[in-house]
Amino acid sequence: MLGEARVAWAERAMPVLGLLRREFGASRPFAGRTIAACLHITAETAVLVGVLTEGGGEVHLAASNPLSTQDDIAAMLAGQPGVFVYAKAGVDRDTYYAHLNRALDSVPDLVIDDGCDLVHTLHSQRQELLASVAGGCESTATGVARLRLMAASGTLAFPVLAADGSVTRRMFDNGHGTGQSVIDGLLRATNLLLAGKTVVVAGYGSCGASIADRAAGLGAAVIVTEVDPVRALDALMRGYRVLPMAAAAPLGEVFITATGSRDVIGAQHFWLMRDGAVLANAGHFDVEIDVRGLAAASVKVNHGVRPHSDEYVLASGTRLVLLAEGRVVNLIAAEGNPAAVMDLSFAAQALALAWLAGGADLPAGVHPIPATIDVSVAAHALAAQGVGIDALTAAQREYLASWRQGS
Ligand SMILES: NC(=O)c1ccc[n+]([C@@H]2O[C@H](COP(=O)([O-])OP(=O)(O)OC[C@H]3O[C@@H](n4cnc5c(N)ncnc54)[C@H](O)[C@@H]3O)[C@@H](O)[C@H]2O)c1
Repeated sequence: MLGEARVAWAERAMPVLGLLRREFGASRPFAGRTIAACLHITAETAVLVGVLTEGGGEVHLAASNPLSTQDDIAAMLAGQPGVFVYAKAGVDRDTYYAHLNRALDSVPDLVIDDGCDLVHTLHSQRQELLASVAGGCESTATGVARLRLMAASGTLAFPVLAADGSVTRRMFDNGHGTGQSVIDGLLRATNLLLAGKTVVVAGYGSCGASIADRAAGLGAAVIVTEVDPVRALDALMRGYRVLPMAAAAPLGEVFITATGSRDVIGAQHFWLMRDGAVLANAGHFDVEIDVRGLAAASVKVNHGVRPHSDEYVLASGTRLVLLAEGRVVNLIAAEGNPAAVMDLSFAAQALALAWLAGGADLPAGVHPIPATIDVSVAAHALAAQGVGIDALTAAQREYLASWRQGS
């Protein structure tokens, strides 16, 4: 399907961005501003870019992952006025960073990042540009974690609003979108029946919990692995078996990592696994499954046994199927998060960016997206679906504001 048709389809499920497009078309919050963006290049991202350009911005867009770029969308965007695209699916690491640098050549006033590679490149290779950046937004947990470390070391030179901490992102995007789209990627790549399968989910954060629920909903027996006692206890109380990875490795038929950490499945686990086990990663970077260790442990690799599926044959004869080369499976083997949740996340980011462009007075560092933005996005989304809710009465307001009214 052509990029235009896919973007038009996504737009139908993105009413909040549609509304912002009209608002920003009138208020022009980004007039004269250059925005460098590093995002997965999907139909939903194209809708966000349309909102930013309608608001007067010039957008220079690079991909946030070398494998997730949808080339038809990149080609469609490159033909839009005020949009410059530096991305192609499947580029090597050097080209990926060359593309980030080309986006930075625009001398941005504002940045949008997904994973912190753009902001990191800006601070490590392009310091001459730092003074002109008013601020930025970061989409994902891994990027926010890197930014906090930059801020703690005194390196981060401008304010960044953490979309990941926002309610819209964690509750709707991670909590509903990632769970569904990760299972979608797994099924498109393998055509497995999940009913009756043992699925091991590593990491019970906002993404992992949502993946576990979807797998369980399809009839899988879910095992959770964790390093955080609170999250592990939560998983246990929700009915999941909790085990260390070494104990889960011989039991799992499907493994999905969603931790933001590295080597969660490593050389010590591969040889314990069952023949035919499927390995997939939902975390931002391709380090959660030790792909190099897997290659080193294998005597043969059968590439492309299915789309986005490579079969690694261990010396024991055990075959392990790695999906999407260990990169974000929902973006590579499927289409990323559904438009309806990206509508909310991107609307929050567009509003946050407009707030920064309007001169929000924030010091350098990582800041939450203001709660008023979350509330406004949710209210718009409810209104777009014709859903009404109650409003507090005067008496309720008074009651909630007082500590004097007891039993
Ligand atoms: N694929 C997508 O569409 C998508 C969407 C959002 C976030 N992400 C990425 O997914 C990852 C997780 O995001 P999140 O928002 O759920 O983060 P989170 O911080 O809410 O959860 C991560 C969980 O993993 C656990 N963990 C860390 N190391 C572990 C280990 N070695 N073994 C088992 N558990 C471990 C942590 O204790 C935590 O509970 C991040 O890399 C994030 O950037 C991907």
